[in-house]
Amino acid sequence: MSIASRIASAFAMTHTPGLGNRWSEPPADQVERMKKGFDEGRRQLAASKPDLIIALINDHFDMYTLSNMPALSIAVGTEHFGPPADSEAWLEMKRRSFPGNYDYAMDIYRDSIEAGFDLGRSGSAEFVHNMLMPLRFLRPEMDLPIVPVFMNCFAPPLPRVERAHAFGRALRKTIDRRPERVCLIASGGLSHWPPYPREGRPLKDDLDRIMWEVFNHGSQVRAKYPQARSLVHEREKEMAAERSDLVNAPWDREVLRAMEQGDSKALCVMEHDAIEPVAGSGGSEVLMWAALMGAMNDGPGKTLFYEAVMPWMGGVTVFSYDT
Ligand SMILES: [Fe+2]
Repeated sequence: MSIASRIASAFAMTHTPGLGNRWSEPPADQVERMKKGFDEGRRQLAASKPDLIIALINDHFDMYTLSNMPALSIAVGTEHFGPPADSEAWLEMKRRSFPGNYDYAMDIYRDSIEAGFDLGRSGSAEFVHNMLMPLRFLRPEMDLPIVPVFMNCFAPPLPRVERAHAFGRALRKTIDRRPERVCLIASGGLSHWPPYPREGRPLKDDLDRIMWEVFNHGSQVRAKYPQARSLVHEREKEMAAERSDLVNAPWDREVLRAMEQGDSKALCVMEHDAIEPVAGSGGSEVLMWAALMGAMNDGPGKTLFYEAVMPWMGGVTVFSYDT
């Protein structure tokens, strides 16, 4: 398809933790198909020659906590950082800096406020798998400036899906009036069941109690519990071994169908309380997909690949608005 010149390319991608250092777990043919799909996404992004990346992502209590949880926010810093020390091993990456774009980010910030989206503001972002998975698989050079926009997906009440879509439409206006050619990346979803405690429900065990502290106090507590992240991943492995219903492939495929056809109504009618029972608490990361669809004016796109990866307890997909 042909898309406006300011959008060089646009992708949505899941950031399933298994993509880190657990490639030996899925069947070989599935690994093969995923690698081919990522190759194609990487090729498309490189061919589009963007000037920068605007990322629609969510934080997992590394930047924001229950003490300060913006519904929507933007990191305007001239540089961003990641991964944190406790994630270097499983992400197979050394901590480093990434260029930001203060001028572009401030334009999005100002325009969003003018349009009625009262974003929070951060300086430098702290990236973990939310941003580093898309970079690793779609832009391993990690050379492009990044303007990250964050959406609250784990501390209810969450922004409504239709609101995320409307934000995407507003974002597009800034993109269209700026001269740079942009690669848009939405990172998150689709159905998944991260072993996180839920506010207002009893804490079941020690992992719940640790994660609840993390939710409330963020990086200070992560330093106190350096094993917290690996405990979550171990729990995910246990859950994946015990149950086969923790990827909802039909739900994932319905989201992909809606994306392919530009059927924003199908996403915008979704309610978070209804998403959770069928797509897990992680299903609300569909917010970023809805925002992307809004930014692309509900144009059609293409699923490069979708794989329900049972050992990773998640679907893995890359969706592209091919140029
Ligand atoms: Fe996530």
